[in-house]
Amino acid sequence: MDNLKSPENEISGLPSLLIRDAHIWTENRAIRGSILIEDGRIQRIARRIAEQADEEILAERLVALPGLVDAHVHLRDMRLAYKEDFTSGTSAAAAGGFTTVLDMPNTLPPTDSAQRLREKARRASRNILVNTGFHAAAVGDRAAVETMKMAGAFSIKLYLPKPIAPLDLGDDLTIVEVLKAAKEASLPVTVHAEDAAQIEPTREIRTFKELVGSRLGKAETMAVSRILRLQKQIGCRIHFCHVTLPSSISSIGNWPLGGLSSEVTPHHTLLSEDSVEKLGWKAWMVPPLRPRRARSRLFREMATGNATIIATDHAPHTIKEKRRPPQKSPPGIPGLETAMPLMLTMVYKRKLSLGRLVSLLSTNPAKIFGLSSRGSIREGVDGDMILVDMKKKGKIDPDKFFSKAHYSPFEGWKTQGAVHTTIVNGSVVYSNGEITGKPGSGKVLRNGSRG
Ligand code: DOR
Ligand code: ZN
Ligand code: ZN
Repeated sequence: MDNLKSPENEISGLPSLLIRDAHIWTENRAIRGSILIEDGRIQRIARRIAEQADEEILAERLVALPGLVDAHVHLRDMRLAYKEDFTSGTSAAAAGGFTTVLDMPNTLPPTDSAQRLREKARRASRNILVNTGFHAAAVGDRAAVETMKMAGAFSIKLYLPKPIAPLDLGDDLTIVEVLKAAKEASLPVTVHAEDAAQIEPTREIRTFKELVGSRLGKAETMAVSRILRLQKQIGCRIHFCHVTLPSSISSIGNWPLGGLSSEVTPHHTLLSEDSVEKLGWKAWMVPPLRPRRARSRLFREMATGNATIIATDHAPHTIKEKRRPPQKSPPGIPGLETAMPLMLTMVYKRKLSLGRLVSLLSTNPAKIFGLSSRGSIREGVDGDMILVDMKKKGKIDPDKFFSKAHYSPFEGWKTQGAVHTTIVNGSVVYSNGEITGKPGSGKVLRNGSRG
């Protein structure tokens, strides 16, 4: 009813939303209640809310969780828009329950200067459906790191196998400069930890299995210990992207100096290199899938809380590109639309607790990337939330993806538990299989601003 709208609401014009009778995940447990979102923020959480709102959702059979935060996605766009663009990528995010994503800088052009970051942000602002922030590429120039921070970058990405912007990464001194610059700018360094020298194929490669065999875990072990050694000198914050070995998780977790975090992906925790033999290009990504035993131990590290976050490393390519011969096939798989049904299935099978899932996919990534108003359901924070149907059965079907990349190594997997509704800044952007948000309804996030 119109006369019940608050004055602020009338000023901002944002419709209010009332979620009635949900199971609300708050302070690590589920309570029964209703949530009123006004002006894009959670205004009230109570057992009963008598007021009416512009829109209401009766959520009796649904669980309200904080909106998921994916700290590692490749939304592409610009000259790689044929693989994915801001609208298709953030639609995939909305369908997967991600209300915030952080985009990687290996685009065309790369995100390697403040100006390029601002251009990307400008383009994104008209096209995104969920909140989107940007990581920036490691560059040699300290002043440039500072200006990228001022432009809103969330981290400095160090891609050890092949630098995104020209840098000599064979040399420790160059890396030290990057770590120092990031520290000065108070930014974390996000690292793709594979040692370049270890991944040069030395023999002829005919199959994806051989390709994966040429890229061993040793490359990760060496890169992790190198970065840890340099972190000791500099003391900057380091986030290790898509770690694949249980031993890497323990080296990072047991590091006495602090300032470190680790990320695992659904594919490295659920699939082993056996999938490469069966599926070829569909299961080709870097770092590659690992042997069965490492995979199950990595899953355990994640489920017990030794890994800090789950990220998808959503890395879309066209099927035509992926089908090329192994050494010409670009690595990467889409992950935004499969992560949540897969992980909810693990909750259903009691291999992962719901509390851990929320920490790994929402609370912890929000915390480590400074998104203080996201990652939990509380009064006063941004209205980013998902409603989950824990009973809903499904099957992974890449033809139905909103992403442009219609393939997945999880194709055909049966799931239990699904995202029913995705709410971004108080607006429903996805509901029951349909995208309901408009391009431009997501916000561009800048590091350090409330968002
Ligand atoms: O598999 C991957 N794909 N790993 C990366 O590090 C890059 C990514 C991409 O951009 O396609
Ligand atoms: Zn990577
Ligand atoms: Zn990546």
